[in-house]
Amino acid sequence: MDRVFLMLLPLMLGVILQQNVAMGYIHIRGGVPIKMQVNNKFEPNNPLIEKACANAKHKESCILTLKSFPESKTADMKKLAFLFLNTTKSLGLEIATWVGDKLEDQESMGPGIDQALTDCNDQYTDAMAQLEDSLVAFFSNSYKDVNTWMTTAIKNAESCEESLKKGNAVDVMGNRNKMFVQHCSNALAVVNVLAQTKP
Ligand SMILES: *[C@@H]1O[C@H](CO)[C@@H](O)[C@H](O)[C@H]1NC(C)=O
Repeated sequence: MDRVFLMLLPLMLGVILQQNVAMGYIHIRGGVPIKMQVNNKFEPNNPLIEKACANAKHKESCILTLKSFPESKTADMKKLAFLFLNTTKSLGLEIATWVGDKLEDQESMGPGIDQALTDCNDQYTDAMAQLEDSLVAFFSNSYKDVNTWMTTAIKNAESCEESLKKGNAVDVMGNRNKMFVQHCSNALAVVNVLAQTKP
């Protein structure tokens, strides 16, 4: 089992535990939550979570991710946004480490793939700097800057994906880029809600 899988395990377990809860998601396929049925028997969750994810492009995974944090039950909007940024940073770090290890530990996978992974290594190093900057901006309530840095982090991952395409290596990273972009996009959506709710 690789690190990203292990990292996502709590999320997946959280999903399983919540199968009878509001959203009715029961499993994850390829890292993307699948909504099986709506089963609204009770709603013990923080209503702010729905609000936080209201404008998210990947609304279902946004809600699931936030619900997977025990602290989210009592969190205000700022805390929810932080939890999302923090977990996005963790995911990015896991991916950056994975790419770095893959480059170091493995024999050449062919020049196309090697080049693509080298590009992705650079892009994820950059993306991690954007995440750091985002968190600094976040704590000084500079949500516009968070927007700028997170948008750049998304571009980093997209650029990595482009390199993989060029190197005929789209499968090498599995769904890692997609997951990271999804997390960045969701985190940004929550920050934008926070920015609007600020007096
Ligand atoms: C941020 O994420 C890391 C890694 O998942 C975790 O160990 C840490 O507790 C989180 N920080 C907060 C304040 O929740």
